[in-house]
Amino acid sequence: MKITTKINLITTAWMLCILMIINVVVFILFMKTTVNMEEEMLFQKANDIVKDIQTNENSGSVEDELKDYLTNHSYIRIMHTKNKAIHEVTNDIKLTKKIKGKYTKVKESQRRLIREEDGEEQILIVRVPIKEENKINSSLEIGERLLGLEMRKDILLGILSVCTLLAVLLSLLGGRWLSNIIMRPISNVIKTMEDIEQSGVPKKIPIQNKTRDELQTLARTFNRMIERLQENMEKQNQFVSDASHELKTPLTIIKSYANLLRRHGVQKTEIVDEAIQAIHSEATRIQKMTETFLDLATLENENIVEMTEVDLVSLSQNILKQLKDVYRREIILDFKESPIIIKADELKIKQVIIILLDNAIKYSHDKIEISLDKNNHQATIRIKDYGIGIPQEEIENIFERFYRVDKARNRVSGGTGLGLNIAKSIVKLHKGEINIKSKEGSGTEVVLTLPI
Ligand SMILES: Nc1ncnc2c1ncn2[C@@H]1O[C@H](COP(=O)(O)OP(=O)(O)OP(=O)(O)O)[C@@H](O)[C@H]1O
Ligand SMILES: [Mg+2]
Repeated sequence: MKITTKINLITTAWMLCILMIINVVVFILFMKTTVNMEEEMLFQKANDIVKDIQTNENSGSVEDELKDYLTNHSYIRIMHTKNKAIHEVTNDIKLTKKIKGKYTKVKESQRRLIREEDGEEQILIVRVPIKEENKINSSLEIGERLLGLEMRKDILLGILSVCTLLAVLLSLLGGRWLSNIIMRPISNVIKTMEDIEQSGVPKKIPIQNKTRDELQTLARTFNRMIERLQENMEKQNQFVSDASHELKTPLTIIKSYANLLRRHGVQKTEIVDEAIQAIHSEATRIQKMTETFLDLATLENENIVEMTEVDLVSLSQNILKQLKDVYRREIILDFKESPIIIKADELKIKQVIIILLDNAIKYSHDKIEISLDKNNHQATIRIKDYGIGIPQEEIENIFERFYRVDKARNRVSGGTGLGLNIAKSIVKLHKGEINIKSKEGSGTEVVLTLPI
C-alpha cells in the first residue's frame, strides 16, 4: 500500500472514531435534557390539575375538567388507594389498556417502553398525590406518548449522520492533499536516487521553496552528502593522476639509463656506475612512494585507531636515537615534565613525529629542537628548525597531497609532497591539531596539539 493511502486511511479512521464518540455524547446529553424537560412540564401540569380540581370541586364533573388538560396521545387518571381508578379520561385507548394505573403517596415519574406494530415507543408517566384536609387517599396519574421526543431524536440522528459523512469525506480529501504535500519532496528524493543509481553520477535534489521543515532538512542533508561524495570522487581522480604522474618521472629516468646501458654496453665503467646509482636511487624513490600510497589508502579506509597510553617523552627519545644514527644531525629534546602520558595510537603518532622531523632535517642544515609540554587538556609537541622556511602564502597549501613549495628544489631532496597530508589525517583521527609558523629564510616551527 502506498504511504499516502496509508496516511489517508489512518487519519480518516481516527477522525471517524473521534466523531463517533462525540456523536454518542451529544445524543445521550440531548436525550437526557429533553426527557428531563418533558418530565418537569408534565409534573407542572399535574400540579395545575390537582389545584384546579381542589378549587372547583362542585362546579362540574371531574372528567370534564380533566379532559381540558388532555393532549394528543395521553391519558389522565385519578387513582384511589388499592390502585383503583376513580376517574379516567383518554384520547388513546390503546395506551390506557397497556399501562395499568397505580396509586402513590409520593411524587414519582417513570418511563416505559411499549411495543407497537411499527416498533417501540417511549411513554412518560408522572404521579402526584392529592391532599384533601391533610389526608391523602387519592393520586393523579398522567401518561403521555413521547412523540415529539421521537421526532427530535430522528432529526438529531439524521443531522449527526450527515455531519459525520461530510466530515469523513472532507477528511479523505484533506488527507489526500496533505499526503501529497508531504510526499512530493520524498518522491523528489526517490527520483533523484533512482537517477543516480541508473547513471552512476552523483546528483543533487532540486530544492524549490525554503521551508526549513524535516523534509527540507532531509533534502539538504542528502545534497551535502552528494557534495562530499563528488568532492571525494574528484580527490580520488586527482590522486590517481597525481600518483601516476609522480611515478612516471623516476620510471622515465630508469628507462633512459637502461637504454643507455643497452646502447653502450657495460664497457664504459663510468656510465655503468652512474646508471646503476641513478637506477638504484630512483627505484628506492618509487619504493618509498608506493609505501606512502599504501599508508594513505589504509588511513583513508580504516578510521580506527588503537588507543593506548603513550609516553611522549620516551617515544621521542627512541625516535631521536634512531634518526641521529641515520642522519648525524644535532637534534635537541626538551621537556617540562616526564612522563607525558596521552591516549593515542603509538605507531601513528610516531609516524607523525618522523614525518615532521624528516621535513626539518630535509629543509634545514642547522640544529633542530623538539620541546614537549602538557596542560590539563592537551599535550603539545613543537618541532623547530632554522632552515629555509615556508612563504606565508604557501602555508595553507602544504597540507595538500603532492604539494611542494619549490618543485625544482625539492626534487633534489626527493620528497613526494605527501608527508604533511598523512600527518594531518593522523592528527585529525586523534582529534588534535597541527599548526605551522614559519618565516622564509629563518626557519619553521610545527606545533602539534593532542588531547590527553
Ligand atoms: N620544515 C620545513 N621547512 C621548509 N619547508 C617545509 C618544511 N616542511 C614542509 N615544507 C614544505 O612543504 C612541502 C610539503 O611537505 P611534505 O612533508 O608534505 O612533503 P615532502 O617533504 O616534499 O615529501 P614527503 O612526502 O617525502 O614528506 C615540502 O615540499 C616543503 O616545500
Ligand atoms: Mg616531508
